[in-house]
Amino acid sequence: MTPKTGTLYGIGVGPGDPELITLKALKVLQKIPHIFASCSSKNSYSLALSIVRCHLNGAGIEHLPFPMTRDPQVLQEAWEKNAIRVLEVLDAGSDAAFVTLGDPLTYSTFGYLLKTLKRLQPGVRVVTIPGITSYSAAAALTHTPLTEGEESFSLVSGALGAARLREVADKSDNIVMLKTYRNFGEIYRTLDELDLLDRAVCISRCGLDGETVVENLRDLKAESMPYLSMIIIKKKGKGY
Ligand SMILES: C[S@@+](CC[C@H](N)C(=O)[O-])C[C@H]1O[C@@H](n2cnc3c(N)ncnc32)[C@H](O)[C@@H]1O
Repeated sequence: MTPKTGTLYGIGVGPGDPELITLKALKVLQKIPHIFASCSSKNSYSLALSIVRCHLNGAGIEHLPFPMTRDPQVLQEAWEKNAIRVLEVLDAGSDAAFVTLGDPLTYSTFGYLLKTLKRLQPGVRVVTIPGITSYSAAAALTHTPLTEGEESFSLVSGALGAARLREVADKSDNIVMLKTYRNFGEIYRTLDELDLLDRAVCISRCGLDGETVVENLRDLKAESMPYLSMIIIKKKGKGY
């Protein structure tokens, strides 16, 4: 008889507060024997894992190193290696979970893992459990409606600078920019140029130690931000 292969659960653990996790994710995490968490190739710290650690019941934990590079070949090789390791565990008959910050299909390493797994083994069983995104939690924290009525909304990344912000600034009523930390200076100057500084709020480390909300971006003199920072821009203003 062919042994049963396991299922991989891609679990969004929310943005920081361990209570912002779904019941579905909690139930899986409390019974799953094996948990994968991505980490940088330099150390084994995983924020996603630290968020759910208080919910775990003795699951085995394995880190999957994810090099901090943009070199597509290095990344591809790393994800292939990681996917092969996940498949080994599933093929041995064990279920496993991959925990990831916020939602697993929103700017997440899980998306790369999923694609690689499907390519290597098209029949692989994967269940994705959505998570509360960082920007939903930040909107809740700051009482900022992300869209109302017929308004539009764009989610962009600041990882490569302010170009994406410029692309959507004309077209969208509301914009969320994630990954603002490295290019904050350029993003700030672009918001100033587009006359949007007074329409923006900056949220760092939402739900975590050191949580900060800056309602007036002009107060942000520094050109650097914590890694976990984002900007919510409402072109029509908050309305209160
Ligand atoms: C790789 S993306 C992960 C997004 C995540 N999957 C989600 O659903 O929100 C990392 C970026 O998400 C944002 N982020 C994630 N958690 C955050 C938090 N607790 N506070 C503020 N920003 C956060 C930051 O912009 C950070 O640079």
